[in-house]
Amino acid sequence: MDFKEELKKYQQQINEELERHRRKQRCPEEELNQAMEYTLMGGGKRLRPILILATYQLFKQDIKMCMPYAVAIEMIHNFSLIHDDLPGIDNDDFRHGKPTNHKQFGEATAILAGDGLLNDAYRIISEDLVCSSKEELPLKIELLKEFTEAVDRMIAGEYVDIKWEGKKITGEELKYIHENKTGALLKLSVRMGAILGNATKSELEILSNYADKIGLAFQMKDDILSEEGNEAILGKPVGNDKELEKCTYVSQYTLQGAKEMLNQITKEAMEQLEAFGEKAEFLRELALYIQNRNK
Ligand code: IPE
Ligand code: IPE
Ligand code: MG
Ligand code: MG
Repeated sequence: MDFKEELKKYQQQINEELERHRRKQRCPEEELNQAMEYTLMGGGKRLRPILILATYQLFKQDIKMCMPYAVAIEMIHNFSLIHDDLPGIDNDDFRHGKPTNHKQFGEATAILAGDGLLNDAYRIISEDLVCSSKEELPLKIELLKEFTEAVDRMIAGEYVDIKWEGKKITGEELKYIHENKTGALLKLSVRMGAILGNATKSELEILSNYADKIGLAFQMKDDILSEEGNEAILGKPVGNDKELEKCTYVSQYTLQGAKEMLNQITKEAMEQLEAFGEKAEFLRELALYIQNRNK
């Protein structure tokens, strides 16, 4: 199977699983369900769950064990997108080529839809814990701890992203924003796949290094696309970072500088995986996909 086919297959598997959960877990208020589904099923790339599954498959084939965590992280991600677009945060009108959640349902409903997705994520994990065997439980509890810490970091990253708008910051501070608001969930995804796959300590370390690099690369590219992307393909606004005077790799290092840094870090991410040989081809290609994506 070539890379594109494999990516599509993963996306399909995740979409089916998300559908299943959304049909099962419905809150008593129908409009809130619709608002949650509107964003969750709205056309995301599913990169975070794909990272869990693909990393796990370096070690084991049957992905069933990963699915609750894949669904949970996609829910957290979509909660973060709904809130990120709100008037009090980025104030954006379009995502996935459609009106943002608050544009479609109103601000109060969008805030609550985000809350609903956040809660659903933890509900799914708690259901998995309840069903886990005694042997699996210590590992799953460790996973939950990592999960909560990464979500905290994402939220802290969003906080500084807003606080530092219009400010002159250092390169280290910029890295701190990106590692947290975006990198934390991407790293968590890779680490969950590795931990569930029973990776050794050194394998986990290699994969964490890979994840750190693609996490930064992903947001560098997001910054580049906000500068020169095609709105029709991207499905979200271009020029919004500049308008809000966001601290980005483009504002800090120029467009050309950001592109050079992106190329370099992508190369480094791919090099991390050498020890895994052929098996890691998909994860290597995924780093290139992050570098070259146009949406
Ligand atoms: C967008 O993430 C928000 C960032 C963290 C930069 P994605 O580009 O992964 O969002 P979707 O889910 O594919 O739309
Ligand atoms: C979003 O970052 C990060 C999270 C949602 C946690 P951005 O604000 O840069 O992403 P887009 O461009 O709106 O997707
Ligand atoms: Mg933002
Ligand atoms: Mg935004």
